[in-house]
Amino acid sequence: MKKIECIIRPEKLEELIRALEELGINGLNLTQITGYGEQKGATKVYRGVKYEVKLKEKIKIEIVISKEEVKDLIDVIVNTARTGEVGDGKIFISEVEEAIRIRTGERGQDAV
Ligand SMILES: Nc1ncnc2c1ncn2[C@@H]1O[C@H](COP(=O)(O)OP(=O)(O)OP(=O)(O)O)[C@@H](O)[C@H]1O
Ligand SMILES: [Mg+2]
Repeated sequence: MKKIECIIRPEKLEELIRALEELGINGLNLTQITGYGEQKGATKVYRGVKYEVKLKEKIKIEIVISKEEVKDLIDVIVNTARTGEVGDGKIFISEVEEAIRIRTGERGQDAV
């Protein structure tokens, strides 16, 4: 299993949630976060000019899925969340060792 953590623009949330439902994603976590990327929260930077670090509001979504589903999910996220402007966000992928559905005790793929 893999965990997909994606950070997107808040204005892309509704469209992404719709696309994830269409893809058949069964569960997710959503968190409102603040953070910064390469431009340190500034929308315009000039070489050699110092700029203040500003935290931007973003949305973080976490989804645990099977390895086989990763590619389609990433395609959907990229195609939905991309504007082509700086600040579109990132996707981080990590390995998930185990999952347990508390109600039934199911483990692994059956639990997600
Ligand atoms: N290396 C990182 N680790 C964790 N979170 C990150 C990292 N880089 C970016 N983020 C998160 O993603 C958000 C959006 O980042 P952003 O899309 O601006 O990345 P970038 O590297 O600056 O790319 P771009 O040049 O396209 O803006 C940040 O506000 C932050 O919350
Ligand atoms: Mg950036």
